[in-house]
Amino acid sequence: MHATAVAHPNIALVKYWGKADEARNLPAVGSISITLDTLVTTTSVRFDRALPNDRFTLDGRPAPDQLPRVRSCLDLLRARLPGAPRAAVESTNSFPTAAGLASSASGFAALVVAADHALGTGLERAELAEQARRCSGSAARSLFGGFVELRLRPGSRCETGQILAAADWQLQVVIAVTSAEAKAIGSTAGMLHTERTSPYYGAWLATSEGDLAAARRAIEDRDFAALAAVAEHSCLKMHAVMLASRPGLLYWNGTTVECLRRLRELASHGVGVFFTVDAGPQVKAVCLPEAAGRVAEALAELPGVTEVLRCGLGEGARVVGE
Ligand code: DP6
Repeated sequence: MHATAVAHPNIALVKYWGKADEARNLPAVGSISITLDTLVTTTSVRFDRALPNDRFTLDGRPAPDQLPRVRSCLDLLRARLPGAPRAAVESTNSFPTAAGLASSASGFAALVVAADHALGTGLERAELAEQARRCSGSAARSLFGGFVELRLRPGSRCETGQILAAADWQLQVVIAVTSAEAKAIGSTAGMLHTERTSPYYGAWLATSEGDLAAARRAIEDRDFAALAAVAEHSCLKMHAVMLASRPGLLYWNGTTVECLRRLRELASHGVGVFFTVDAGPQVKAVCLPEAAGRVAEALAELPGVTEVLRCGLGEGARVVGE
């Protein structure tokens, strides 16, 4: 009853922000993302009758604040196998945790895949994505590689699947780390605050399907300019909704803004790059392969950028050991 799985973070190009049903963690909008390759979460799960309680370590240290979410995630799988024992879970990230690099996405994707294998529940990938989605919305997308869409279906259902494989359009991602501190307000709390207090939230919901259709089409057509336009729009619109809440949510720092300005300048000179930013201060630059080197150099030169990470597009979560 032991298994190890790996998963990669994903970065949303059309953002998920807001919940239709908090108890079931049902997103209020669909989303489209790319799964990265070089950043990795590795998670081992061991179910053991001798354990009195679930245990969780992150990067070698007990993480009691994360344990309740890990336990509810394990409970979803244990519900399918009554009498399944408690588990010891060890997870390591090859990148800064909780600083807006989507560690919860890769974390829950790896956890669900490892726990399913260890328990022998043998769920289909789409079902694994649903389990991961209930733990963290963005985690469903890390079950798949390349370009991925989480769609809302009638009857409060979600369906997550691949639009295009990583090999079919080999974009690159350059991440500018502007702060290694954990974010002040997590996504779940931030979303609830926005829903309750932002006057722009209705407009955010009303325009989501149009953005998803535009991005899906741009990906299918490998149309970088069209994808750049809708992705930057979705990112800036999400931050506008957050900023308009009361009190306003500001996830950026000064360096975040400097990065966006520099990337816009490069793009205006014909460099194939666009930006996106999640609920944190890091900037993700999505590039055509020939632009990635120049983009990485430009971002590394900016004062306040502490680290520049480079990735290609990667595969979905998978088992790597028994
Ligand atoms: C800004 O998936 O972390 O990164 O479902 O509450 O765990 P929960 O939220 P989470 O939210 C991700 C928000 C985002 C945009 C995105 O990844 O689509």
